[in-house]
Amino acid sequence: MYNKIKIVAGIIALTVIASCTQSGGNFAGYEYAPDMYYAKGPEAYRMLEKDTAKNFMHMWTPVDNTIARGKLDYYFPYNNDTTGYRMATKEVTCPESIPSTLENIQEGKRLFDINCIVCHGPKGQGDGNIVKDDKFPPPPSYTSDQIKKLADGAKYFSITYGKNNMGAYGPNLSPAERWKVIHYVNYLAHEADSNSVKLDLKEEGYLDFYKK
Ligand code: HEC
Repeated sequence: MYNKIKIVAGIIALTVIASCTQSGGNFAGYEYAPDMYYAKGPEAYRMLEKDTAKNFMHMWTPVDNTIARGKLDYYFPYNNDTTGYRMATKEVTCPESIPSTLENIQEGKRLFDINCIVCHGPKGQGDGNIVKDDKFPPPPSYTSDQIKKLADGAKYFSITYGKNNMGAYGPNLSPAERWKVIHYVNYLAHEADSNSVKLDLKEEGYLDFYKK
C-alpha cells in the first residue's frame, strides 16, 4: 500500500519537476540517454552541416574522394569551368552500354519532352514556349552548325552542369538518361540533313541513316 503511494507520489513529483523547467517556450526539455535519439552513423539527411561561407544549412557532403554505392557512373571528374568543358569535349564519349537504338532514342524523346521542350521546342529549333514572349533569349537550334558540330562530351557537360541561361540537369537525370537525351538531341540535329530520313520515331527506317 505504502509502496503504491510512494510510486504515485514519485510520478507526480517528477511530472512537476519536469514541467517546471525554463520558461519562454524555446526550451525543448532535457534529453535522457541521448544515444537513443541520435544515431552514431552519419545520416546525410538528418545531420545538417552549416556552410558558414554561404550562411545556410545543407545535407552532409560525402567524404572527399569517395563514391556512394551504386553511383560510380555519376562520377564526373571535370570541374564546372572552361577547362573542364574543354577537356570533356575531347575526352567524354557515350558508354557502349547505351547505344543509340530506337528504344534509347524514344526514351530520350520522352525525357526531352519533360525537361527540355519548354525552351528548346518540340523539334529542338530553340522555339519552346518560354521564348515566345521575347523575355527569354532563344537557345541555339539543334540543326545549327554550332550544335551539329558540338561533341557529345560537350553536350553531356552542359546538360550535367547547365550553361548560362540553361539550368543543370545533373541532379535530375541519371547519367544513362543524359546519354539517351543526347541520342535524341543528335537525332533532332541530323534529321534535317536528309529528306529521306523518316521523321516518325515509330518507324525504324531512320536508324539506317543514323547508324554511325
Ligand atoms: C530554361 C531553358 C532551357 C532548358 C529547360 C534546357 N535548355 Fe538547353 N540550352 C538553353 C540555352 C539558353 C542554351 C544556350 C546556352 C549558351 O550557350 O549560352 C542551351 C544550350 C544547350 C545545348 C548546347 C550546349 C553547349 O555546350 O553549347 C544543349 C546540348 C542543350 N541545351 C540541351 C538541353 C537538354 C538535353 C535539355 C533538357 C535536359 C535542355 N537543354 C534544357 C536553354 C534551356
